[in-house]
Amino acid sequence: MQAPMLECIDFTPVWVPPLARFLAAIDEAGETAQFSPHARDEETLNRLASSPRLDIHCLLVEGGNVFGYGLLRGWDEGYTTPSLGIAIHPHARGVGLGNFMMSYLEMLAMRRGASHVRLRVLRANTAAISLYSTRGYEWSNDPIRDDLMIGMKALHTRHA
Ligand SMILES: CC(C)(COP(=O)(O)OP(=O)(O)OC[C@H]1O[C@@H](n2cnc3c(N)ncnc32)[C@H](O)[C@@H]1OP(=O)(O)O)[C@@H](O)C(=O)NCCC(=O)NCCS
Repeated sequence: MQAPMLECIDFTPVWVPPLARFLAAIDEAGETAQFSPHARDEETLNRLASSPRLDIHCLLVEGGNVFGYGLLRGWDEGYTTPSLGIAIHPHARGVGLGNFMMSYLEMLAMRRGASHVRLRVLRANTAAISLYSTRGYEWSNDPIRDDLMIGMKALHTRHA
């Protein structure tokens, strides 16, 4: 039997129930407002998992469990700068998985040719702001919502 191994993988239909459990854990931790990239119902998750897309929905998994969920979105709508979203399972935080997944997401964006990544974060979300700030995100006010900030990071593309 294969020992469980940490992997970053695409979100596909087989992962709908584990992702639903992961999102329920985020809700149970009272963090729905911090991380709500889309509806959590099964129909939405199945649609996202099965439709062809340019946007990236990826999972950090180990042994059948989801430890992290990361998104890079905007390409499907025609934007060149993707918007990043990330959450780590409440029981798996503080050990570097957030930083690890950020590196992975930024690398995916770079491999797609993006020059920047953007994100929106609640001003009150100090853990996320600290994570993004140490990774070089620069801040501006959200033009619409006072409780949000916009982070932007330039990606240093190199030709492979
Ligand atoms: C933000 C989040 C992704 C961090 O994940 P994590 O795996 O705990 O992060 P890491 O262990 O890799 O820590 C990386 C950095 O994040 C910051 N950080 C993480 N937890 C923190 C906390 N409780 N308080 C302050 N800073 C914190 C620190 O800067 C830390 O760097 P350090 O270890 O050198 O101090 C996680 O808390 C989370 O999923 N939160 C809920 C969802 C969310 O808010 N997503 C962001 C939406 S915009």
